[in-house]
Amino acid sequence: MSRIIAPSILSADFNNLGNDIEMINRSEAGFIHFDVMDGVFVPNISFGIPVIEHVNKIARKPLDVHLMIVNPDALIGSFVKAGASIITVHYEACTHLHRTIQHIKNLGIKASVCLNPHTPIAVLEDIITELDMVLLMSVNPGFGGQAFIENTYKKVRQLKSFIEKSNPDCLIEVDGGVNYETGKKLFDSGADVLVAGSFIFKSNQPEETIRNLKIL
Ligand code: DX5
Ligand code: ZN
Repeated sequence: MSRIIAPSILSADFNNLGNDIEMINRSEAGFIHFDVMDGVFVPNISFGIPVIEHVNKIARKPLDVHLMIVNPDALIGSFVKAGASIITVHYEACTHLHRTIQHIKNLGIKASVCLNPHTPIAVLEDIITELDMVLLMSVNPGFGGQAFIENTYKKVRQLKSFIEKSNPDCLIEVDGGVNYETGKKLFDSGADVLVAGSFIFKSNQPEETIRNLKIL
């Protein structure tokens, strides 16, 4: 099992984003997580390709791009060009998910699918072997700082057992409400990657918080 921390810049200080990216570069974080929201798939608009292009100029960690948007196929190429190393699309936003995953992989980067809290693991049965990662939402997508959904632990255990049988190299990432308490239980349940936004960026010692999350 990997233990990767992926700070979500959704909670970063956008008046000093470069400083926060340099903090992540110095830290033990494994990815930089970008929560891209279009105001249609989720009831919020966050940021898009220009932010990722600029961060990519100074980032020294892989860019983990979470597309909370409708019709992701239209923009996958642009996000790859902007510097994405991993692209996650929502199962709920993709009519032809197999084609979308092939599209991402044909561009030479890692492909991941995200499930909202209400979407069961079983929907991945015929696509799991194609995936590099599965992202489970532990909050309803759209905002940082929300309360963790307890059912997520069960979903992580179910997904872990499914992956062990069908695609052992596939990572499990969890996004939303991650702190020391939920993070430890998530790692213990089989998660590999923890996305944390407010818990890291509201901390007085973000680098230490990242280090502590990694060794939970
Ligand atoms: C929801 C976002 C958040 C964010 C992390 O759409 O995806 O889950 O990344 O938020 P925190 O860590 O503040 O709960
Ligand atoms: Zn995310």
